Amino acid sequence: MNDKLKQISEASKVFILTDENVASFWLPEVEYWLGCKNAVEIAIKAGERHKNLQTVQRIWETLMKHHADRNALLVNLGGGVITDLGGFAASTYKRGIKFINIPTTLLAMVDAAIGGKTGIDFGGGKNQIGTFAEAEEVIIHPVFLETLPQRELISGLSEMLKYGFVADSSLLNANLENYQQFIVRCGEIKREIVAQDRTEKGLRKILNFGHTLGHAIESHCLTTDYPLMHGEAVALGMMGALWLSVKQCGLDENVLQDFESQLSILLSEAETSLSKADIDRIFGYLVHDKKNQGEKQQFVLLEAVGKPVWEVEVEPETAREALEYVVKERKQPRTDDCDVWWLCS
Ligand code: GLY
Repeated sequence: MNDKLKQISEASKVFILTDENVASFWLPEVEYWLGCKNAVEIAIKAGERHKNLQTVQRIWETLMKHHADRNALLVNLGGGVITDLGGFAASTYKRGIKFINIPTTLLAMVDAAIGGKTGIDFGGGKNQIGTFAEAEEVIIHPVFLETLPQRELISGLSEMLKYGFVADSSLLNANLENYQQFIVRCGEIKREIVAQDRTEKGLRKILNFGHTLGHAIESHCLTTDYPLMHGEAVALGMMGALWLSVKQCGLDENVLQDFESQLSILLSEAETSLSKADIDRIFGYLVHDKKNQGEKQQFVLLEAVGKPVWEVEVEPETAREALEYVVKERKQPRTDDCDVWWLCS
């Protein structure tokens, strides 16, 4: 990354959006790589809780305060929260300025930073407001993974397995030891799919495998003291989608059973507990998912590994059963509270 990028040298002004954690590890180094020591830094608090309109407003205000014009460039340095937020802020500021993504988490490298989806959480739901806007460049550098906590790696691994289920079964072999060799393949798959369906009218929906239940679980857990990471919630969502796939699409039950052992690894760092009462709340989020048409529940399911089907309608009662399966199957009742069905710590 020593040569100055064309986008940097052509920009009227460079802004770097990052979060406080990434800033402390990487900001000076990245400024050096990019050759833009005069960049305006915008460091926000880390975490999904800050992926909201207030933070976007702060970014817009900073751009405005520093007289960013239509030729300004925003560099998004961070995980999926930063690339989603920064992409949204850039794509809406003065009707759109250029941005580049430098993902620092595995999840952002294989999914969030690629493909032009930007957005913020709003009204209690994930990514309810957003745009389709492509980054000028996505710069992947595995060195960032060296400082990544294990829980972040696991979260990214979950999205890698998603590509395994919907597109390339070899990715189901990805694990915490070998994941680096699969990063490029995930990016290729995503780019191939996005090239055919940028705005998610059809095929791109397969990238939401596990996300329908996953987003509902994640949205709910964000309101508790034990938020799940995106990939952890998606892992649970994939379990529910596999269960539904066996029930409705004839998926071989062994695929579901095989995922059980992977799931325990994917949840090994999660600190959360879900009870019967949580199921009701999660179900409420599911009904409000933006991918659903009216009251119907729409899922991406599998007829076989690598053979996804999308817009599969699932009756609300069946979706609820899937949710109960996901939660019940993980049960590890605490001795002091038999209403708590599972707890990983
Ligand atoms: N994360 C799914 C997509 O970008 O379409």
